[in-house]
Amino acid sequence: LWLMAAMAFMGYALGSVPFGLILTNIGGAGDLRKIGSGNIGATNVLRTGRKDLAAATLGLDAAKGFLAVLIAWVMTSPDFSDRTASLAALAAVVGHCFPIFLGFRGGKGVATGLGALLALSPITGLIGCAVWLGVAKASRISSAGALAAFVVMPVVILALYGFSFQSSPKPMATLLISLLVIARHHENIGRILRGTESRIGQKKN
Ligand code: G3P
Repeated sequence: LWLMAAMAFMGYALGSVPFGLILTNIGGAGDLRKIGSGNIGATNVLRTGRKDLAAATLGLDAAKGFLAVLIAWVMTSPDFSDRTASLAALAAVVGHCFPIFLGFRGGKGVATGLGALLALSPITGLIGCAVWLGVAKASRISSAGALAAFVVMPVVILALYGFSFQSSPKPMATLLISLLVIARHHENIGRILRGTESRIGQKKN
């Protein structure tokens, strides 16, 4: 049990690292908090005009979710506990959304959640990435892509693993991650409904 708690803490700490803020600071791209949505994620980094930093933020934020799951599996070898890995996945997304270093004011968990789910259930993660990219590209609204992906992924993983927590903890973790990511988008959902959500490539006024 102590190992499970340690892996939850590891996931949270890893998830807490705000790569968007770090990279825009190093890259001199301005204060993310005062740009666009004020969010620390790759979408908002893109609004600084620095595609390179946005791509790096996306990659690194996803990598911390992916790594949290891998570390949890490695540390629980030779059992490779799915329970501990699922908890680490959830903890990484919680860490990104509520980082202790930023007074718990973090991001929305899209990249970190996708990274964690790519590790936890590659089929689910790949379908999520496809939905995210497809909907974002078609609508030119990043948050719409994210919302669609995090609605689809719990359905996919439930279809793969079934409803029973006894058989696999992965669907439960995915469901909780999705609920958190969707809840973190409440402002985006309001803007989408009002038709005022900003579009990718559109200049913010
Ligand atoms: O990655 C978060 C994205 O879905 C929305 O970001 O900055 O438009 O609120 P943002």
